[in-house]
Amino acid sequence: MPSFGTVIYTAVVLGFLGLLLPPPRPLPQFDQNEFFDKIQQVSGSQHRDGSDGDGGRPAAASSGQLTFANRPPASSIPSYTQVFNGTGSGSRDRDASIGGEGYLTYKLVGNETYNVDACLDVCDSLPSCVFVNLFYEYNNNLLDFVFSEKSNLKCVAYSTVHTAKDKTNFGGQQSVPLPADKTYVQHSTGYAKTALWDPPLPEGYELVFGPEEGYIGDDGWLSTVLLDTYDVATCAVECTNLAPSTSNGVCQFFNINQVSVAGTAATTSCLLYSIPKSKSDLSSSTKDNTTFSYSRGYRRITALPDGGFESYQSCDPSSSFPSPPTSFCFTYSTPTWSCQSSANGFDDCSIIHFSPYAHTGTTVSLLGSLTNTDNHFGTLSPSSPLNATTPGGVYHLGFWHYGAYSGPELQKDAFVDVLWNFQPTMTVVPGYTPWLYFWTTVEARGDDFLLLVGGKAPAWSFVDDIVLYQL
Ligand SMILES: *[C@@H]1O[C@H](CO)[C@@H](O)[C@H](O)[C@H]1NC(C)=O
Ligand SMILES: *[C@@H]1O[C@H](CO)[C@@H](O)[C@H](O)[C@H]1NC(C)=O
Ligand SMILES: *[C@@H]1O[C@H](CO)[C@@H](O)[C@H](O)[C@H]1NC(C)=O
Ligand SMILES: *[C@@H]1O[C@H](CO)[C@@H](O)[C@H](O)[C@H]1NC(C)=O
Repeated sequence: MPSFGTVIYTAVVLGFLGLLLPPPRPLPQFDQNEFFDKIQQVSGSQHRDGSDGDGGRPAAASSGQLTFANRPPASSIPSYTQVFNGTGSGSRDRDASIGGEGYLTYKLVGNETYNVDACLDVCDSLPSCVFVNLFYEYNNNLLDFVFSEKSNLKCVAYSTVHTAKDKTNFGGQQSVPLPADKTYVQHSTGYAKTALWDPPLPEGYELVFGPEEGYIGDDGWLSTVLLDTYDVATCAVECTNLAPSTSNGVCQFFNINQVSVAGTAATTSCLLYSIPKSKSDLSSSTKDNTTFSYSRGYRRITALPDGGFESYQSCDPSSSFPSPPTSFCFTYSTPTWSCQSSANGFDDCSIIHFSPYAHTGTTVSLLGSLTNTDNHFGTLSPSSPLNATTPGGVYHLGFWHYGAYSGPELQKDAFVDVLWNFQPTMTVVPGYTPWLYFWTTVEARGDDFLLLVGGKAPAWSFVDDIVLYQL
């Protein structure tokens, strides 16, 4: 292990040079005005068909663009999910109908049977409908004696999903004159559109948040796709199929939400991001009567544990410099990563906690002698074989690289060799470059080995945010 003096020395050298670093490459910016303009266009156009050039295109939006995907839902999930049950229709059973926001309209459906299908058809016929409440209402003068349907089975449509806790209308009005009883409700059930209420998890992704209100309009934005229906599976395919780019990286996260304009469902927005986002990134800023509901965030699952080295957080207070919050410290291993120097080398690979050096977060790896004592390469690798890979699976392997530390002349020999199961699979010779994304495709055999070999101090290679996504 390095002595206390070594750490201070390193911090002084790297910390001082750090002040000379060019500013990091800015992340692509989300353009809120363009976003709202497109939503207005979509909500304003009554007739969008598949032949106008926008529809039916293959899922491959290019980076930094707003596109339309106009495909039927790919999934064969049931259209509706029952949210709550009724309490029965025996003579003594009593229930309550839903009271709450998002009321659209009601229809009386035939009461020969408890006609769920007819009620779901009602919802399907209303563009904004996402939920129906079906129940019997007894002793209602209009239902029993006035309306032509001659049915007491009410189907009430809503533009928002309600749960059993919103069962608040028990009846109790004197609708038919005495001696008739007051109105009452029986067997009140609720059905929501599955795609909105309980969408299946798309393969290769995990749910980070949702459903919430709002959308993510933030840095790291890559692309927005407007979908005809709320379809998580299609949005996931857009993310997976978005071509990676050297400057913007790869799609790591998406936010899907239902967009309503003046209370009517207008479109579904699918926002793709190059860095993982969280619930705290949700924006509530809105305009033009537009609201965002059923907002969910999904992160792509990487088969590489802690690709950003963020598990290494706590600098030993006795060796940190300068004092927090920009404390500097380094290590040769974390629970999931190992660093090795060349034979006779010194500090040729290290994992550094110092946020100004990190691509995201506060920790980054460095190939090349940290203390500039030799020009040998270092080797960075997961500390155990990768057991989350599927044998035969094809994976996208990528990482961010920074090669601008020492200036144009001294950086020119920077390199990183990537070995997958000990076979060379990619060599990065970046020269003097800011943070850039490099990637390749590998096939897994299970319990795979990954080695990143490089650095030739003072041509240092900073490596961060390594991902391994199944394709
Ligand atoms: C409703 O009740 C039926 C019959 O008891 C049961 O099979 C079903 O799972 C219940 N559904 C919900 C959403 O509770
Ligand atoms: C159907 O609704 C009508 C009108 O409220 C009512 O008179 C009739 O008894 C109901 N039929 C059944 C089977 O509940
Ligand atoms: C918002 O929508 C309401 C109807 O829902 C309408 O009365 C109002 O004029 C709209 N406001 C704007 C700014 O479009
Ligand atoms: C996979 O490896 C990790 C260590 O990297 C270990 O904690 C985990 O238990 C392993 N899982 C399986 C299923 O072997």
